[in-house]
Amino acid sequence: MMNNYYQTQESVQEYIRLAKDVNGRSLIEKLSNVLPLNSKILEIGSGPGLDWRILNESYQITGSDNSDQFLKHLKAENPTGEFLDLDAKTLKTNQKFDGIYSNKVLHHLKDDALSESINRQHAILNSKGIICHSFWKGEGSEIFKGLFVNYHTKVALEQLFRPHFEILLLETYKEFEEGDSFLLIGKKK
Ligand SMILES: C[S@@+](CC[C@H](N)C(=O)[O-])C[C@H]1O[C@@H](n2cnc3c(N)ncnc32)[C@H](O)[C@@H]1O
Repeated sequence: MMNNYYQTQESVQEYIRLAKDVNGRSLIEKLSNVLPLNSKILEIGSGPGLDWRILNESYQITGSDNSDQFLKHLKAENPTGEFLDLDAKTLKTNQKFDGIYSNKVLHHLKDDALSESINRQHAILNSKGIICHSFWKGEGSEIFKGLFVNYHTKVALEQLFRPHFEILLLETYKEFEEGDSFLLIGKKK
């Protein structure tokens, strides 16, 4: 997969600057309706760490990313935080979690890699564990700034997640334009 944009120091610094006001507080509020405070949660693709900081207010949070540059940034900014070098597809960890969160990360996976990720998420969640992920709404895929971007419909997301998760919430929201994104919250079957 081409994803140099998230790997070089220059582009990572650019992304951190551009994304400084984009965070998932409203998504995390919805998550907190179903995942008790203080639960142990894994964030996939913590990137600049904006959502990590919000999650850290209420949960025992472990951050992660597959980019060395973002991991370096996350550790420097949050010296007491725990951060793992994890790929969203394989999630190679022996730890177990009560919840798994990502905000605009899993759209970088092709459908078969997303299926593998969903299997691994199921495996590393405790019984009745909760997932909370956002996606871009649409069809097909494209390469944007050298990054693979996969778009999803409601039906496609249901088909991917339903075998392993009871879908508690699947609704559109506005990231930049009305209805351009989906929030999915599910419970481990
Ligand atoms: C849009 S940013 C996430 C921003 C984050 N939610 C925040 O609050 O700042 C996407 C992140 O996903 C990471 N990423 C992309 N593909 C990944 C993969 N296959 N495994 C793990 N992380 C990945 C990138 O390195 C980047 O840090």
